[in-house]
Amino acid sequence: MPNHFLSTQDLSCTQIHALLDTAENYLHSPPLPTLSGQWVATVFFEPSTRTRCSFTMAARRLGAEVLPLDVTYSSMQKGEAIVDLFANLQAMGCDQFVIRHGENGMLRQIADYCQTARVINAGEGSNEHPTQALLDMLTIRRHKANFTDLTVAIVGDVLHSRVARSDLFTLHTLGVKEIRLIAPSCLLPNDSEQFNAVVFDNLAEGLANVDVIITLRLQKERMRGVEAFDVEAFVNAYQINSKTLRLAKPDVMVMHPGPLNRGIELTSEVADGPHSVILEQVKCGVAVRMAVLSC
Ligand code: NCD
Repeated sequence: MPNHFLSTQDLSCTQIHALLDTAENYLHSPPLPTLSGQWVATVFFEPSTRTRCSFTMAARRLGAEVLPLDVTYSSMQKGEAIVDLFANLQAMGCDQFVIRHGENGMLRQIADYCQTARVINAGEGSNEHPTQALLDMLTIRRHKANFTDLTVAIVGDVLHSRVARSDLFTLHTLGVKEIRLIAPSCLLPNDSEQFNAVVFDNLAEGLANVDVIITLRLQKERMRGVEAFDVEAFVNAYQINSKTLRLAKPDVMVMHPGPLNRGIELTSEVADGPHSVILEQVKCGVAVRMAVLSC
């Protein structure tokens, strides 16, 4: 069976560091065309800018051919089952599928139909986004010496965020000193105890002595009763701005997976300020995806 890449839960601490080492090398040295002759299909059932573009760049830098499938014009519009779509792409000779889908569990179903092609999770529902977690860890590792000394706070819509979920599993595996979740109770998952995370509903208390802040977009497309959600109250209580940023450590890193909603979860002065590593995360994303495509 192909070595599918579906979940951060499959990765040990040693495997994560090995992938990050490979990615770090790709940041410095020109890549060899190790995927020459391979076909990588990118199939996105949800919108994407960073993930789709960086997977495309990563595959092409390694010498692969990229097949971008536009699902709005695929035969699924004629009633074709999703597993048949991938069975056909596999029959044509695709070697790897980079897939984003809105439904939790769908990538496992597709993977079970793939005897030769490998499935890579490029974001699945509110479940996982493993390559985003790896690029987040690479960015942190480039700035901070040891994960075991770090206090990391994830702020905002943790409940609907596949990024938060994959970050939580990965941070836990890497043995960070403390993981904090800062959010109102309606945006917190009910299984956060498995990550040994400490929950705060007060931003000032949650940010004290924090080394890394991971901010998140409000995922309105996944919220039930979104009309009732009070965005203004969220902004007043949880926004990362120049005032609230001062509550964390003086050398705190501010991260965000993108897309940003400026003025909501964080302000422009923070997003574009000296603590922000948001565009470095994007740069690390290409290198991490090269590492994943070639592992
Ligand atoms: C995230 C996603 O799609 O999960 N974006 C990304 O891949 N960088 C986060 C989001 O949509 O808010």
